Amino acid sequence: MGRVNNKVILVTGAARGIGAAHARLLVAEGAKVVITDILHIEGEALAAQLGESAIYVRQDVTQSGEWTEVIASAERRFGALHGLVNNAGIANVAPLEEFPLDQWHKTIAVNLTGVFLGMQAALPAIRRAGGGSIVNVSSVEGLRGSAGLHAYVASKFGVRGITKSAALEVAASGVRVNSIHPGLIATPMTASFESSLFPVPLGRPAEPQEVSQAVLFLLSDESSYLTGSEIVIDGGLTIGVPRKCPAPENIF
Ligand SMILES: NC(=O)c1ccc[n+]([C@@H]2O[C@H](COP(=O)([O-])OP(=O)(O)OC[C@H]3O[C@@H](n4cnc5c(N)ncnc54)[C@H](O)[C@@H]3O)[C@@H](O)[C@H]2O)c1
Repeated sequence: MGRVNNKVILVTGAARGIGAAHARLLVAEGAKVVITDILHIEGEALAAQLGESAIYVRQDVTQSGEWTEVIASAERRFGALHGLVNNAGIANVAPLEEFPLDQWHKTIAVNLTGVFLGMQAALPAIRRAGGGSIVNVSSVEGLRGSAGLHAYVASKFGVRGITKSAALEVAASGVRVNSIHPGLIATPMTASFESSLFPVPLGRPAEPQEVSQAVLFLLSDESSYLTGSEIVIDGGLTIGVPRKCPAPENIF
């Protein structure tokens, strides 16, 4: 018996990276998974690997009409929708004064408007299923500033905020909404990142499946009393700079 047995869960941006790890773990734990992305070859290949328990649907999360189609496909194929992971995201870096306006709009559209549209479209279906769980993917950059990542930081703070306003509004109808805040995770998104910029106390980036464990928990009934919460999965990155305990004479 899996931890999310027979739950139907939609994961956006799941053709690769952390979203693909979510899809794999959720299927292993008994869920039916709808994988969506703009990377069709990778998405279709992953769904084929996962077999009868997964389908791939083409979706750009910034397009509201496509959301209607995706939710309808989930209900048509698997009979219901119990969970949504708003995972699709992009990042770009530039100094504030040179930050291109089109990149600003694009990042906000994918990372924040996509989450808003996803919750809007999925909520009626999740209510029809009798309640469920929404996981919005923020970041440690939704908890702190980060030079150069202006649109990304703004979008991820926004995701953290709308998670709480949504959680308040839908709690009475049996829908829980939480955000996760990953730190440095080894995926195509971070392949070019300079790791010395990330002094992780645990001393390494995370593997995508280490994030999926938190998502699995939030989608399962084990997290039945969590809503509006933030789960930080960052190896200690945001708690401070790792160092040895100073000698007592240097403290007192
Ligand atoms: N990798 C990290 O260190 C890290 C840390 C914190 C948060 N995150 C967040 O985790 C999520 C997944 O990131 P990842 O590292 O796996 O990145 P990734 O680039 O490997 O995967 C992101 C996926 O989103 C898809 N996508 C992009 N634009 C889309 C759109 N308009 N519609 C649908 N799909 C779209 C991409 O095609 C890709 O498959 C993102 O929201 C990211 O911001 C990542």
